[in-house]
Amino acid sequence: MPVNSHQNLAMVTCTAPVNIAVVKYWGKRNEDLILPINSSLSVTLHQEQLKTTTTIACSRSFLQDRIWLNGKEEDISCPRLQSCLQEIRRLARKRRNTGDPTSDISVVSHKVHICSVNNFPTAAGLASSAAGYACLVYTLSQLFGVEGELSTVARQGSGSACRSLYGGFVQWKMGERSDGKDSFAEQVESESYWPELRVLILVVSAEQKSVGSTSGMHTSVETSQLLKYRADVVVPCRMEEMIRVIRQRDFPAFGELTMKDSNQFHATCLDTYPPIFYLNNVSHRIISLVHRYNQFYGETRVAYTFDAGPNAVIYTLQEHVPEFVQVVRHFFPSEANGSEFVRGLPVCSADLSEELKRDLNMEPTQKGIHYIISTKAGPGPCVVEDPNLHLLGVDGLPKKSAVSD
Ligand code: DP6
Repeated sequence: MPVNSHQNLAMVTCTAPVNIAVVKYWGKRNEDLILPINSSLSVTLHQEQLKTTTTIACSRSFLQDRIWLNGKEEDISCPRLQSCLQEIRRLARKRRNTGDPTSDISVVSHKVHICSVNNFPTAAGLASSAAGYACLVYTLSQLFGVEGELSTVARQGSGSACRSLYGGFVQWKMGERSDGKDSFAEQVESESYWPELRVLILVVSAEQKSVGSTSGMHTSVETSQLLKYRADVVVPCRMEEMIRVIRQRDFPAFGELTMKDSNQFHATCLDTYPPIFYLNNVSHRIISLVHRYNQFYGETRVAYTFDAGPNAVIYTLQEHVPEFVQVVRHFFPSEANGSEFVRGLPVCSADLSEELKRDLNMEPTQKGIHYIISTKAGPGPCVVEDPNLHLLGVDGLPKKSAVSD
């Protein structure tokens, strides 16, 4: 942990990734500890395209804990933030009390300044709480010298955040205990295990803000019988199957399970009373397009999944990316030019056969998709070594660049 002795300021900067579930988490059995009613499994996305960066400083001279998110100071008293801060401080004290000679005693009692930014627009409606809480917990752990299992701490910030502490393919085991100690995330396979796998995020225009996942899943647990059936009967088998097909790198089986799980999650939303609608007309058109495309080739080449919003996340293999992106461009024409429409990993151009266009048999939807982020699986949180990249200055306040980001 770098310490500026003149200012008595210790500062660490880390980054953490976004993850997209292929077996969805939906519903809590304990809302305070964030214990889920079913296990879940996700793919961690590459941080070059999507990441949160967090700098945390602590100093004897700070009067209170403070946090700035994407340039704006936010309320530090948020209960989930407090859970993470208290839990990491407790682990740091425990380490000190067990006599670890490398632990710095003084910093744990100091107040912290936290500054966090995303490298993707919040307006894109991409879930940022998973990367945000994973980054908060990881950075705090580096600052206070806490080692070991951190996913149970990140889980208390946001359930899905526990999976962002690992790269590649990650499962969150629901656990059985009431204290949550066995409800943690675990890597199934690393990000290099299936190098051909690709991810395309289709950023869909949303007319209105949808119900947040926390309140949505609360109502689903209270009212949906389908959700109970899903958690008790469907997910336990699906988790085993999903792990098996990932280990076999069996894309058709992986894609089919992913789509079925997304569809069942949205079915439980519809079964919630009053019902919750996360998908819009563009989302429905993307679903049809994917099925028609797969039908044309007689195999599952692309698969969709949707979280608590209308954006589609497409899983596919590298060899199919150019043609599928061209299909999306054709059926969702946009005013954006090439590099503006497809961001992230470069995508080669492709021509569509007349036969394919005819068989897909869809009217083009103007401006339905804002842009595509092309990415792949990536690693877990990292420490940023270059001190020039800290988001806080030596005065412990956000640098201008962190405010305008
Ligand atoms: C649909 O983790 O955002 O993205 O635990 O209340 O913070 P809280 O919910 P959150 O829920 C994510 C739901 C989901 C599915 C998933 O990521 O598994």
